[in-house]
Amino acid sequence: MLQKPRGTRDFLPDEMEGRRLIESLMRDTAGRWGYGEVCTPTFEHLELFTMKSGEGIIEEIYDFEDKGGRRLALRPEVTAAVLRMYVNEGRMLPKPLRWCYFSDCYRYERPQKGRYRQFWQFGVELIGADSAAAEAEVILLADDILRATGVVYHIHVGHLGPMKFMLRDLPAETQRVVMAFLDKRDVNGLGNCLRELDREDLYDSLTALVEARSFDEVFEICGEIPERERIEEIISILDGQGLAYTLNFGIARGLDYYTGMVFEIFAENLGAENQILGGGAYRLAHLFGGDDVASCGFAIGFDRVMVSLGAAPLAERTRVGVVYTPDARDHALRVAAAFREAGVNAVVNLVDRGIGAQMKHAARSSDFVAVLGTRESGAGTVTLKDLASGEQREYSMEDAIAEVKAFGTC
Ligand code: HAM
Repeated sequence: MLQKPRGTRDFLPDEMEGRRLIESLMRDTAGRWGYGEVCTPTFEHLELFTMKSGEGIIEEIYDFEDKGGRRLALRPEVTAAVLRMYVNEGRMLPKPLRWCYFSDCYRYERPQKGRYRQFWQFGVELIGADSAAAEAEVILLADDILRATGVVYHIHVGHLGPMKFMLRDLPAETQRVVMAFLDKRDVNGLGNCLRELDREDLYDSLTALVEARSFDEVFEICGEIPERERIEEIISILDGQGLAYTLNFGIARGLDYYTGMVFEIFAENLGAENQILGGGAYRLAHLFGGDDVASCGFAIGFDRVMVSLGAAPLAERTRVGVVYTPDARDHALRVAAAFREAGVNAVVNLVDRGIGAQMKHAARSSDFVAVLGTRESGAGTVTLKDLASGEQREYSMEDAIAEVKAFGTC
């Protein structure tokens, strides 16, 4: 039997219904904040991602050569593509631009619970507003979207300023290596790395930075830094809105394009892969031939949110199974159409079998069975059987719809 590729999943209708519901909650919430949906290609030129997305991403990229010899990649994330699109199509639009997306992404990773090779991100990018208000807005929006889904989470807000200031004497490439250990919260690796660099003096202050939970502690460790005012302003906006969060200046983010504010959100019951959101402030457009526009945004790991939410039962929609004798088929199809037009789910028998067998089959997945024979066809009526009570009566089409709608969720 042929199997699906490793790290991918199939979704049956019930699961898809749950996913679509949560997806639309996310989209509706972002829409209320003025974010319009955009869509970029599933594959891009490989260099879009290799230019600035960080070593991790490059190793994880699904890349290939097309028949014209072009080096292409399935998108491992969407931010770079959205900024490429901004440079191509959006430079003349009035800023700030508020865009959101719901897209599948591909990373060649070792699959485990919450980590897949094909996964979906719901993300936003706020382009062209270099302010504390913009950076606070994306954090508050992330909180609003996740609250709408019902997932239980906690927010960590940080800024790369203190960490970068402490590493300022190291070459950019070495800074990246050190920050990668901090990103993975790998203190042993960090210790070894600093020893090799002969910079063990940084160990205590870097690990203290990761632990620091207040401004006083942070600025005591790193001293005065130019970004202090911006950081304090972002935090004062968040506090003014009563947001619950943890200050965490140990957040390094795995992608290389972040420049300042960074934030991550974690959910319960996910095990090791408990990060359901990552984001921050960054600059990318200038790399793709555009202006050096300030941007910020985030992406939610949609599949992780779904795993964390678990199999919450969906409100079942009332369903009518439509069965009929051969001479009443036209009437049966019209009855099914009338139910659907009234917002009721109606499924029609498709197999040549007797009324008894049709009813038995329909009863497995319906709340009502509509039985249409010669009499109903002639009179334009519907015989409706309520499968919960076993009661059966003949109704006009209007009354049959009213009877079904009175039953529950349509
Ligand atoms: P990221 O942290 O690489 O950031 O990914 C965002 C989220 O996608 C993660 O927090 C995680 O929940 C989810 N995710 C990542 N890899 C996987 C996987 N293999 N399987 C399931 N879920 C996964 C970005 O992608 C940035 N583009 C976010 C951003 C937007 N920054 C600014 N704007």
